[in-house]
Amino acid sequence: MTLDKEKIVNLNLHNEKDRILDFSDFQKQTIQFDIDKLQDAYNQIIKIKKFDDGGGVTNFGAISLTQIPGDPESIKGSKARGVYWTKPDKSGKEVSRDVDIDEEKYNEFIRDYENTYFKEVYDVLSAKYKLGRVRILLKEPRSTLSWHRDPEPRLHIPIITNPGCLMVIDNVAMHMPADGSVWVTNNTKYHNAFNGGEENRIHLVACVLDYKFN
Ligand SMILES: [Fe+2]
Repeated sequence: MTLDKEKIVNLNLHNEKDRILDFSDFQKQTIQFDIDKLQDAYNQIIKIKKFDDGGGVTNFGAISLTQIPGDPESIKGSKARGVYWTKPDKSGKEVSRDVDIDEEKYNEFIRDYENTYFKEVYDVLSAKYKLGRVRILLKEPRSTLSWHRDPEPRLHIPIITNPGCLMVIDNVAMHMPADGSVWVTNNTKYHNAFNGGEENRIHLVACVLDYKFN
């Protein structure tokens, strides 16, 4: 076979500037939690609560730790997921999906989980950041989200993960280890997350309303 050099795309992989990836959309925070206690708390809550499928989203599950005060409906179905924008087809045209969420109202920690380590985590986080919904999110094995953007940055605390779990923001991918560390990710840019492993990925994910990326 002869190659038609005209048809070869020059990826310019040897240009040093192009090899430097910018990870500034993944910001590791200075706070640290106890990963054993996080995993224990997770095991406690899954004994008493089932994951909400966000209104029928495949390979996805959410358990909300906060709600609108006195309103258990505020964390069910679509509200376990919330509004996002995606580019679903070849036109590349952006469309919005799901329902608007009034994040600021989600300031009641759900009583059922008050005796778990998540309450301590919530108290520390909410003293430092202005939080919206705080959820435990499940990403099932060998699954992905859509290519989408969210209204605000998200704080992540990985609880159970594996090396095949990556979040991709724009064209940069990062694995966040489950070691008690806390990350804020720039979900206002197009992103995705996939779990290429064979076990569930579990993250605590909070909407952060007062975090600015440059
Ligand atoms: Fe997202």
